[in-house]
Amino acid sequence: MTDAVQRRLDEIRQAIDRWNYEYYILDAPSATDAEWDAAMNELRALESEHPELVTPESPTQRVGTDAQSTFAQFEHVRPMLSLSNVYSEEELRAWAARAVRFAGSDDLEFVTEPKIDGLAVGVTYVDGAFTVAATRGNGLAGDDITENIRTLPSVPLRLRRSDRFGMPTRIEIRGEIYMRRSDFEALNTRMAENGGKLFMNPRNAAAGSLRQKDARITAQRPLRMFAYQVGYVEGIPQPRSHWESLEMIREFGFATSPDSTLYDTIDLVWDRGEYWLEHRPSLDFEIDGMVIKVNDLAQQEEIGYVAREPRWATAYKFPAVQQVTRLLDIQVNVGRTGTLNPLAVLESVNIGGVVVSRATLHNEDEIARKDIRIGDTVVVQRAGDVIPQIVKVMEDRRTGDEVVFQMPDTCPSCGQPVHREEGEAKRLCTNAACPAQLQRRMQHFIGRSAMDIDGVGDKLADRFIELGWIHDAADLYALDYDAVAGLEGLGEKSAENIRSAIEASKTQPLWRVIHGLGIRHIGERTATLLADHFHSLDALGAASVDEIAAVPGIGGVLAQSVVDFFAEAPNRELVRRLAEAGLQTRQDAPERDGEQPLAGMTLVLTGRLERHTRAEAEESLRYLGATVAGSVSKKTTAVVAGEAAGSKAEKARQLNIPVLSETDLATLLDGRIPEALGESP
Ligand code: IVH
Repeated sequence: MTDAVQRRLDEIRQAIDRWNYEYYILDAPSATDAEWDAAMNELRALESEHPELVTPESPTQRVGTDAQSTFAQFEHVRPMLSLSNVYSEEELRAWAARAVRFAGSDDLEFVTEPKIDGLAVGVTYVDGAFTVAATRGNGLAGDDITENIRTLPSVPLRLRRSDRFGMPTRIEIRGEIYMRRSDFEALNTRMAENGGKLFMNPRNAAAGSLRQKDARITAQRPLRMFAYQVGYVEGIPQPRSHWESLEMIREFGFATSPDSTLYDTIDLVWDRGEYWLEHRPSLDFEIDGMVIKVNDLAQQEEIGYVAREPRWATAYKFPAVQQVTRLLDIQVNVGRTGTLNPLAVLESVNIGGVVVSRATLHNEDEIARKDIRIGDTVVVQRAGDVIPQIVKVMEDRRTGDEVVFQMPDTCPSCGQPVHREEGEAKRLCTNAACPAQLQRRMQHFIGRSAMDIDGVGDKLADRFIELGWIHDAADLYALDYDAVAGLEGLGEKSAENIRSAIEASKTQPLWRVIHGLGIRHIGERTATLLADHFHSLDALGAASVDEIAAVPGIGGVLAQSVVDFFAEAPNRELVRRLAEAGLQTRQDAPERDGEQPLAGMTLVLTGRLERHTRAEAEESLRYLGATVAGSVSKKTTAVVAGEAAGSKAEKARQLNIPVLSETDLATLLDGRIPEALGESP
């Protein structure tokens, strides 16, 4: 009886370990969430019936134990060193020249790795079993965070078997604990919902999560590890090069720093640094530089150490993404839905190669919370391609002349009083005729993600509004083109171009019309879901909250927002006039009558397509049943890469996701599965 239980336990534990490895290390899961949950539940049930069979390596042991009062100190077997920095090509070359001198040879190879911005840990395995984990601390001793690290699914509780390297009696594997940007955003959203304090950045969040005395909290945080070094190893032959130790670490079941390279010239090393600097914003984790290590371990020993830093390695540090500057003013803009949005006007400052003169301030509570005053010296941060933010005020730089900011009580555009509803962070201008709102609404309507009317730019739309020619989107379809031709700087020809651009927009599909209406919370993707489900604006306008919320992918808040929109008489009137103007307010149900040859596929399009516009291709793919996503993930079936495809195609290759050509796309659009995808969609 117990034998059978033991066998089943082994089986489930192995399956879960494998799924973990596929998900967290290979980034290519093979189990569904449901399978995973079922296995975990069965394992928990079996273990509670047979507590004597619980092992420390069981996946159930990753949940975290009771709170500790302090962290014990762990003395490192080999000191954990830090790195020297170089900031330019010149300094990098000088570093390499020193390495050559100390090695007594100019025959050096270099390994490059992105420098992940997280926290260093060393994890020790005895006879393959996870034993202890510690922070770097002062380099000689750090905090024992074994219980916290045990909860990380990317840290194996038992090393994977390796025929090539064998099983060490003891090994310490070092690496960086970090949080993906996307996980960080989601965590902060969750914290905000629960009224918790928000983390400043992913590194902060990783540090805060790791230093929890209660490992049950750590277990809830999306921490991951990239391994980059063997601290020491016993019982098997030493690796001869750093490259080989990275291979060893991978075979033992860890993720190593992504896209490490091996080069034999410093020119290539420098190029690689430029590459990372350029690709930095598109990564889902933060890097603050690139680490360069001499590959040969014997040469490393020759080259030696200075104080706490190896001379055989260095970090090329990227230009700062935080800078100090002055807040000159706070402007208030009116958004499409009437929200008053404060915006920081900054003394221009170069942050990591980009000149920044504006930063978002979110809302008045945020300004009060950070105590931001006009005239303050502030720390500004630019992270990836997001709008720059003010991190904090440097209070010690205050002169006393700073001015506390007051959100206006009237709309800066129309002068009408504004309201702030209970529970809302933003003040609202509720004047339906407010010109600023109308401008934003028109910009949205003609914009690329909605009706995509190329021939009418924001400036021209503003001009029509100022002239009193348009008061809503429907007026765009009733322009007097003789009057347009008579405008300064235009003429017959321009007027004709504008007319044909606006005419052409009448054939835009239903989802674009829905998106163009500017219903709160409804984006491109949700507009598509609504169009595919309701097939007409009439049907959508007549639907109840429950009916709308029943559409997969649409939640209650969105459904309510749609109903609220159609409850307003002026909005219903707008919809009626758009239909009258001849816009596509209906779309035929897929005539394939449920037969959707691409159903179940999730595709990502990237790069420039020769034969289709991106929007056309996406639409047709959706029509054929595929889901079209904006970014590559484990759920992606394939990526279609056009000309000059960049990081998305690259990421797909890393995840072993098929990358398709435009010819393959044509096959897909025919409703057939291209050879590159094999049998199964
Ligand atoms: S090697 C002797 N490799 O950077 C070599 N460090 O500034 C010591 N880091 O404490 C570290 N990515 O926390 C190394 N690929 C990488 C790294 C890396 C990030 C961090 C690590 C270290 C700090 C030194």
